[in-house]
Amino acid sequence: MQRETAEPSVGQFPGPKASEWAEFHRESAAPSTYVYDFVWDVTEDAVGPFCTDPDGNVLLDFTSHVAAAPLGYNNPLIMDELREFDLVDPLKIAGQDFYVSTGGSPADPDLPGPAHLMDRLVDVTDHYGMDTVFLSNSGAEAVENAMKICYDHCATPKYGITFEGAFHGRTLGALSLNRSKSVHRRKFPEIAGVHDVPHSLAGVRHLRETLDPETGHIPADQVAFLILEPVQGEGGYRIPSAAFMREVNDLCADHDIPIIADEIQSGLGRTGKLWASDHYAFEPDVITSAKGLRVGATVSRSEIFPDETSRLSSTWGAGDVIASIQGAVTLGVIREHDLLSHAERMGDRFLDQLTELRAAHPETVVDARGLGLMTAIEFDTKQRREAVIDAALQRGLLTLGCGHTTLRLLPPLDVRERELDIAVDLLDDAIEDVAADATA
Ligand SMILES: Cc1ncc(COP(=O)(O)O)c(C=O)c1O
Repeated sequence: MQRETAEPSVGQFPGPKASEWAEFHRESAAPSTYVYDFVWDVTEDAVGPFCTDPDGNVLLDFTSHVAAAPLGYNNPLIMDELREFDLVDPLKIAGQDFYVSTGGSPADPDLPGPAHLMDRLVDVTDHYGMDTVFLSNSGAEAVENAMKICYDHCATPKYGITFEGAFHGRTLGALSLNRSKSVHRRKFPEIAGVHDVPHSLAGVRHLRETLDPETGHIPADQVAFLILEPVQGEGGYRIPSAAFMREVNDLCADHDIPIIADEIQSGLGRTGKLWASDHYAFEPDVITSAKGLRVGATVSRSEIFPDETSRLSSTWGAGDVIASIQGAVTLGVIREHDLLSHAERMGDRFLDQLTELRAAHPETVVDARGLGLMTAIEFDTKQRREAVIDAALQRGLLTLGCGHTTLRLLPPLDVRERELDIAVDLLDDAIEDVAADATA
């Protein structure tokens, strides 16, 4: 498959082989959010945003595995590095009880390992004064540890602040911060003292009153952290105004409340800057990252991290050599190959196209928005959104929902103009077909 000429092509979807794999998977997997019966065949051709299913259908993947594969399939810049490694088993060492050498010397290693990943993360958070990293296995764990270091750092920790529409993961601690869908929290025990705020400038202004000793009921010195996604992901790709972000920043600075920026979906170049926070007059104290890093990472300043040994730890923390290499190489490629400005440029172009698409379907497409390649269109109803996701898929375009009526589009950061054009044409057809079906 050549990226320059690849085209989505779908015969039967899902075909018999994909159905067989999906059925086999479901035999032992817990029911979960499988949006559609798409089965990626890892033994078949895949390049850039194109991949193949077991029935030979070629799909244009604008999900980037929910931002976890920011450089697409088989990116040569990643694959060439990975092919050089002559690694031994176990690749996943019991971290935090051992250190790992990746050959050569730390300054000139044969391959980048967990320590290099942390070093690169410190490098890209230096402008926020960050110098310390705790690696873990997932986004939710990165958030758990972000909360832990903030509770530990606060003399009288009683409260945390989150926003309406937020999503921060599914472990019991992280889900206590979620305010996007009831399915994430219903019936589960939660950590106490989490106060939620409307995701608006008025909401933050009201929070200021709530924290004011004269007018409010929450003592600011008991607030261990405020957490937010600089661009909300699961909650509907909601892009905040500059005024909102400035107000959050200033309020937290006035009260010395640490800000946790959850960059698990919005970070690593997705918005055209390394961190979505970088678009704003906004200074996070802790950043959480995961997905494209292939490990979880909690990044902050050393004084916020506890000194005490074993206060943070995990069997696999910092120990997955292969995942750390992938994360370090991904971060290196994004920075060294100018993918940030590329993503910004392609994002602007894509948003123009989506805005035209909205104008062409004014009855059904109610919004088009994006920051870099974190892009979305919103529909009049949830049913229509679901129907368009399905119709696009039948034409060979993979997309995802978020919020209640929004369809998100996450092309790889090195997406090409031709691929954006194909996606827009397929979406246009899908929207038209769904409208025609509804009329019929
Ligand atoms: C903003 C945000 N935070 C946290 C998480 C949780 O990450 P994980 O699924 O790796 O636990 C996600 C996952 O989608 C996310 O988008």
